[in-house]
Parts: sequence; C-alpha cells; structure tokens
Amino acid sequence: IRVALFFGGRSSEHGISCATAGGVLGAIDRSRYEVIPVGITPDGILTLQPDDATGLTLADELPVVRENGTRVFLPESAATREFTVRDADGTTRSLGEVDVAFPILHGPFGEDGTIQGMFELVGLPYVGNGVLASALGMDKHFTKTVLAGAGIEVAPWVTVTRARLAQDDDLWRRRITGLGLPVFVKPARAGSSVGVTKVKNWDDLDAALDTAFAEDHTVLIEQAIVGREVECAVLQGRDNAPPRVSVAGEIVLTTREFYDFDAKYHDAPGVELVCPADIGDAALAEMQRIAARAFDAIGGAGLARVDFFFTGDTFVLNEINTMPGFTPISMFPACWLASGVTYPELIDELITLGLQ
Ligand code: DAL
Ligand code: MG
Repeated sequence: IRVALFFGGRSSEHGISCATAGGVLGAIDRSRYEVIPVGITPDGILTLQPDDATGLTLADELPVVRENGTRVFLPESAATREFTVRDADGTTRSLGEVDVAFPILHGPFGEDGTIQGMFELVGLPYVGNGVLASALGMDKHFTKTVLAGAGIEVAPWVTVTRARLAQDDDLWRRRITGLGLPVFVKPARAGSSVGVTKVKNWDDLDAALDTAFAEDHTVLIEQAIVGREVECAVLQGRDNAPPRVSVAGEIVLTTREFYDFDAKYHDAPGVELVCPADIGDAALAEMQRIAARAFDAIGGAGLARVDFFFTGDTFVLNEINTMPGFTPISMFPACWLASGVTYPELIDELITLGLQ
C-alpha cells in the first residue's frame, strides 16, 4: 500500500507536525506500506523529502521542512492517482500511484478541511476527518456552538473580532467580564496553545487579546473551568460500527498555570502526563460516552482526541482535535497504548480506516 505522508505546513504548528511525521516514519510497518514523504514548507511549497525520520524530532529547535528545489504534484484529476515530482535539476518523473494520503498536519491549512477538500477534488482517499469535521474542529467557536447544540456541556464563552470590538467595545467588554475571572483568551483557529493566555486580572485582557489576534481575526474568551484536565482518544469504528474510545489520560499541573506550548513540546517543568488517569470506571464510561457523541456531532471520521475538564460531577468539553499530535510524548498514542493498541498498530488502523 502506497501512502503519501503530508507534513509540516503553513500553520504555527509546523514543527509539531514534523515531529509527528518523524514518529510515523519511524514506526510505520515497512512490510505493508511504502511511504512518499511530502514535506510542506512554512510557505506552503510541496517538496519531496527523504524517507527518513532523522531530524524530525522534538528538540530545542523544532524541526522545519526546508525548500529543496523539488516540487510534488498531486494527481491532475480524479481519473488518476499518479503523483509526479519535478526534481531540483528540473526533470519531471512519476512517483507512481498513491493509494491513500495521510495528512499529518496540525492547524490551519491542514487540520481545517482545506487540504481535505483538495483530496476530495482529486478523488484521493485520505486518513482522518473530512472537510466539515476538520473545519468545525479547527474553529473553537463553531466547535462549541455545534456541541452545545447537541446538548454537550462546554465552558461559557464570548467570541469577538476586532470589528465587533470597534463597533461596541463597551457591550463586548461587559459580556467578557460577565464570565468572571479567570478566563482563557484563545485564537479561534490555532492549536498547541499557540496564542493562548490565562487572564487573572482584567488589566491583562488587552495584551491577551493582542496575542490571540496575532494568530486569528476571531478570538474566544472562555470561563476557566475548575477541574481536572482529562483527554481521551477516539477511533472511528470499522464498517459503520460505533467509534471506539480509549481510556483517559490526565494533564496534571504541578506548578504551571496551564498546559502551554512550552510544557507540551519543550518539556518545561510543572506539568505531568498521567495515563491511564485514575477517574473510576463510572466516570470513564461517562467520558467515553460524551466523547463518542461529540465525535458523532461534528460528523467525525478516522480519529480525534477529545479534551475535557472533569469537575468531579460533570465533564465540560474543552475541544476536539481532529488531527491530534502523535509525537512520542503526545497523549493520543499514549491513550491508545494504555488501551492495548501499540503505536505501529495505531498507524496501521488509521490507514486502514482511511482506505475504507
Ligand atoms: N494541536 C496539537 C497537535 C494536538 O492537539 O495534539
Ligand atoms: Mg487543540
């Protein structure tokens, strides 16, 4: 089976995507799969990369896909699955037919339905969520709107744009302060906590808005929920079976305010990942039920990681990640490992689901 692995990309999570690709390239079953590694530069150039995980790891400097003069071209129509490459010397050659695309991309232009739409256009099967679920999951405002509509509890929030604030600053500020402190200020479409600030004093709100607006023109202000931060992983069922949901993992904050970018990828102190989380069987079953419902509510396919705050009574859904991180220290593979699915098996399962 020939897999085109797309990684890197134009979003602020470029480096995380590369590290995820490194994990996949290192673990994929070579007796079953042939990989065509398509690295997307931060400028959005599709390049052919070596089939080698070296350098695609989390380090102080996050990995980057560099322009190397090659250009990868997708099939020109749904009538063929042939990829081509123009090498750095200008010659063009066929890369042969590809069975499935695996867009291991996080953030805008990869996790948001855009590349999924391109695969749809050229009739290429692909791993993971479709256009709508990807677009919904990427946008925190619309995720929450759809989930709330499905009766799933989410944290109270206010969504602003610069235009709304310019139109009636007082009104929006009243709505924001009505949430009560502390709040999280987040760009609507970003991941890995890029652009996110926890605000504990209203004097810090404007700086937090500026930070979030640097990532997106739409920003959410969310009431901070007091509770344990727990997550679980979802895999689509085969042949229309209900989704399978993993055991829970927990983010335990020891000295840190929240699970921010440095804690996620630079191993900054103050946070511990625990998997499986000790929440009890009844709570786990409830969490799994809500995760499966949320996956269904956004029209999910393939995979997702669903993040919650557990107050002791209820689960408040924080977000759905439609292409969660797969780096060796990520929660998605850890949740499956604790549920009896190894990393290579997980990759195998995802590709199989993509081909289904
Ligand atoms: N956005 C990051 C990659 C995650 O959800 O794991
Ligand atoms: Mg996220």
